[in-house]
Amino acid sequence: MNFELSEEQLMIRQAARDFAQTELLPGVIERDENQIFPAEQIKKMGELGFLGMMVDPKYGGSGLDTISYVLAMEEISKVDASASVVMSVNNSLVCWGIEKFGTEEQKQKYLTKLTTGEQIGAFCLSEPEAGSDATSQRTTAVDMGDHYLLNGTKNWITNGGTASVYLVIAQTNPELGHKGINCLIVEKGMEGFQVGPKENKLGIRGSDTHSLMFTDVKVPKENRIGEDGFGFKFAMQTLSGGRIGIASQALGIASGAYELALKYSQERKAFGKQIFDHQAIAFKLADMATNIDAARHLCMHAAWLKDQKQNFDKEGAMAKLFASKTAMDVTVEAVQIHGGYGFVKEYHVERLMRDAKITQIYEGTSEIQKIVISRSLIK
Ligand code: CAA
Ligand code: FAD
Repeated sequence: MNFELSEEQLMIRQAARDFAQTELLPGVIERDENQIFPAEQIKKMGELGFLGMMVDPKYGGSGLDTISYVLAMEEISKVDASASVVMSVNNSLVCWGIEKFGTEEQKQKYLTKLTTGEQIGAFCLSEPEAGSDATSQRTTAVDMGDHYLLNGTKNWITNGGTASVYLVIAQTNPELGHKGINCLIVEKGMEGFQVGPKENKLGIRGSDTHSLMFTDVKVPKENRIGEDGFGFKFAMQTLSGGRIGIASQALGIASGAYELALKYSQERKAFGKQIFDHQAIAFKLADMATNIDAARHLCMHAAWLKDQKQNFDKEGAMAKLFASKTAMDVTVEAVQIHGGYGFVKEYHVERLMRDAKITQIYEGTSEIQKIVISRSLIK
């Protein structure tokens, strides 16, 4: 594995850094406070190629590798994790899933708009009674010959209100258990499809999280992804890559908070010297920097394996497990280093601390990552 970034990768990182500073930073506090979806900013991210980073240019994508995606995710997440979750879901769940397993017609119809930001995608696996226990799908997709009849409720769906394209996992043949599950592409506006109210959240408050209700929605057969019964494997394989995206989000939240704390520690004086010169503070920063570096290496390794077309299920889960814990630990310490100023919104670190928590929950909780990792140890 080569640790040196290519010219292209450095350029992508700089472009994401510049975008985050100039387009995302202004207004980030207000968007968080008032739960405002960053619509304009997401549109620009689409125009700049950040929403279909790894997709083949023939479908409007940027044709980049996963390392570039990790670099961009880190930079965007340093500033606005609400924007980066939209980016992660669109890139690594929706675009990747359709490009890898969709038909040519599905790619032409959906990918070309999803990569440019003309449309946004959502990935709909979780239900009120099926979160970690994802095979217990209650949503049904009954085979009616030329279409499926979709009924049920999905919970906590990121981009739930703003998406146009929804990848919905549903049970077609309960007797076959997870082998009877399908993934259907549902479009906003299909009759019987309703979006529930927006969730009022602790963190990533600018992101748009809703439950979705399906009542006798007719979904054409050509909207199924893969063979009959492939839906659960589709979800698992897609989530493996998604976890690299969320690990990078956690990495970005941690490094954003660390950079603010390092700067503040050299500006704030107490007892006649910079607080950095108190070893208790310098050692906190040393721990933060070390864990961030370790998290970055895990993210990069998982991304590199994916780019080499090697299995990365375990490494992606390790990256998410470690980076999300690092995000929590680092943001708590960043608030501490800021003292009372860390507790108010203007200094950003309290928001990063609230945003960090979700990275230990979605795309598989930390306990689920440990299941994935431990099972792979004895495979
Ligand atoms: N690739 C391919 N197939 C896989 C797989 C993978 N990575 N992981 C599991 N499978 C297959 C298994 O091989 C098995 O198939 P066979 O019976 O043919 O061998 C089948 O899937 C069922 O697997 P398990 O027996 O391991 O299933 P399980 O019930 O024990 O659950 C689990 C496994 C890992 C816990 C899984 O349920 C899981 O990942 N749960 C967490 C769900 C999750 O991550 N949700 C995230 C929702 S999306 C989201 O959150 C988006 C966002 O925040 C922004
Ligand atoms: P549960 O599964 O009920 O878990 C509760 C607790 O029990 C957790 O601590 C869990 O780790 C633990 N637990 C459960 N089973 C085990 C076990 N076998 N061993 C040890 N511990 C266990 N889902 C989507 O499909 N699409 C999205 O876009 C999406 N976006 C989200 C956005 C937000 C803001 C949030 C909050 C959630 C989102 N989710 C999404 C859902 C998310 O993936 C689930 O919340 C998550 O998978 C956990 O499921 P649950 O909430 O039902 O918790």
